[in-house]
Amino acid sequence: MSTWGPGLFSSDSAQDFLEELAELDPAARPAELSKIFRELLDDPGSLMRTVFPETVVAAAALVAASLPGGQDLLDDEAFAAALPEPARHLAADALRALTVATSPDGHWATSWVSPADRDEALAEVAGVAAILGSGAGWWRDAVVYQIYPRSFADADGDGVGDLAGITERLGYVAGLGAGAIWLTPFQRSPQADHGYDVSDYTDVDPLFGELADFDALVARAHELGLKVVIDIVPNHCSDQHPLFQAALAAGPGSPERARFHFADAPNNWPSVFGGPAWTQVPDGQWYLHLYAPEQPDWNWRDPRTAPFFDDVLRFWFDRGVDGLRIDVAYGLFKAPGLPDLAPDQIPEPMRLRGNTLASDREEVHEVYRRWRVIADSYDPPRTLIGEVNLPPDRASRFVRPGELDQVFAFAFVAAPWDADVWCEVGADLLTHARTTSPVTWVVENHDVVRRPTRYGSAARARAALLTILGLPGAAYLYQGQELGLPEVDVSPEARQDPAWIRSGVSRDGCRVPLPWTADPSGTYGFSPVGAAPPWLPVPDHWGPLSVEAQESDPESTLALTRAALRLRHLLPAADTVDWSVTEDRLLLARRTSGFTLAVAMGDTAVPLPAGEVVLASGPLPGDGTLPPDTAAWLRHA
Ligand code: NOJ
Repeated sequence: MSTWGPGLFSSDSAQDFLEELAELDPAARPAELSKIFRELLDDPGSLMRTVFPETVVAAAALVAASLPGGQDLLDDEAFAAALPEPARHLAADALRALTVATSPDGHWATSWVSPADRDEALAEVAGVAAILGSGAGWWRDAVVYQIYPRSFADADGDGVGDLAGITERLGYVAGLGAGAIWLTPFQRSPQADHGYDVSDYTDVDPLFGELADFDALVARAHELGLKVVIDIVPNHCSDQHPLFQAALAAGPGSPERARFHFADAPNNWPSVFGGPAWTQVPDGQWYLHLYAPEQPDWNWRDPRTAPFFDDVLRFWFDRGVDGLRIDVAYGLFKAPGLPDLAPDQIPEPMRLRGNTLASDREEVHEVYRRWRVIADSYDPPRTLIGEVNLPPDRASRFVRPGELDQVFAFAFVAAPWDADVWCEVGADLLTHARTTSPVTWVVENHDVVRRPTRYGSAARARAALLTILGLPGAAYLYQGQELGLPEVDVSPEARQDPAWIRSGVSRDGCRVPLPWTADPSGTYGFSPVGAAPPWLPVPDHWGPLSVEAQESDPESTLALTRAALRLRHLLPAADTVDWSVTEDRLLLARRTSGFTLAVAMGDTAVPLPAGEVVLASGPLPGDGTLPPDTAAWLRHA
């Protein structure tokens, strides 16, 4: 069976493989195939499973489907259960195509088909295999590495990260074992909210480079097998956007103003960043901005808004981006007439979801059905990921068929270090995901306090890392999380977050430039030597946390992340989980594939559950216990 491997995706190799199999006694084929596939599935160390987890198993199933007896194999429940999604669906589709291609009366051919039929059938298989090879459905269990361009790597030496810096370091991201990157905004922007105030949706801000740099980044990412997800900001733009400037110039009552929310008097809505959500312009009118005054909200009831964004989507999809992360995806539409909030319903700063008149409105779903059609018109279909900061029962409505592919699961971001809360939150998320798409596990991003600081220790942050990576579905890692970076206490005069001035909340501490080298020159390798100072000051102790320092330490958080990502490939995304908490605060998530995540969240060491420990977030004493603030992955027969 020498043809097993990546070449299986090409029809020539598939054909060679089939021919090899054809030499076997027909009666022995199903049993032989079944044996091969079971070995493949049972052997967690199998190179192919590790490197091409879903696609290789699916390709195997496709080959099975093209052989007499293949149907029996796919009908075998144990075999089907072991096939991760989307492999199972794609294999079934291929089987249907083959059934039609090989049998005029629509029945599965029970004997070897004629060469002509077989060629046609193989062409169908090759088509589906191409989809598999292209990785459609990659997002279901991908690890997505979030890059905050300002702080990742500065190639041009101006003290701010840029696209060329990212491209140079993509090998590092691929080497972690991530499947995709998500870039927060790099489009043209005055940077009032560090890119979330866009003045040109289809250009790169000169701070980060130009479109050619973006194209080079995408090409390099794809070369490395990384998908590229970019941020899109449809709730608001920049006050410097030409359409907002035209609205200001055109005056009250003009069609230009109808693209935004202008009114003669403000309502009582607060801005998410603190203060009122309205700013007055010189002619006396007010405009709505749910975030900073530099971020006017688009009016999605204006018929020109949706087509405007259709073009933005196509622009980036045509440039090869694989998916979009949709900023404030649960915003966009406001209650008609913009009524006041009841006085007891005014939300706290940083809580858009508390404003029920400006979030989670029914009309927004129409936008995503429209975007679905656009995303699906590409080959392979592009992925739509929503920032939907709502409880799971409401968030899951955004991933109904025909809408978005994924939403972030914010419940873990908000959860404190508490076994009962994690158990409840995890179970709730999985329950709501059952009928939609797998959960996107996340604990860090560019808006929240870094976990070592939030939970109070590096050990807990490492345990949380193994938790999100050990649950079925996709996981999002924020740059520096793999290094265990703590929150930095940026001095008040150096803080840049617009929310800081308005509400006293500063998100600067999680946005400090990454340390690449142990040596401080060039801001620990973030910039070239002799560059301008970094846009946010970097702490003195940054060197030991750097990539370079951690590379050579097998106990480092970087080494732990790499090990987890390598092993994670073995865990089917379609697993269900049985959650529990023991009396001594051990959180257990038992997966159907025979794998358990155990997190000791109490004050004392606890007995390890049954099974072989394949990875732990900290040292184990070897006496069968799990120390406090430690997570372990266990495999059992
Ligand atoms: C959510 C983004 O993650 C955050 O950084 C930004 O400030 C707001 N949306 C407004 O665009």
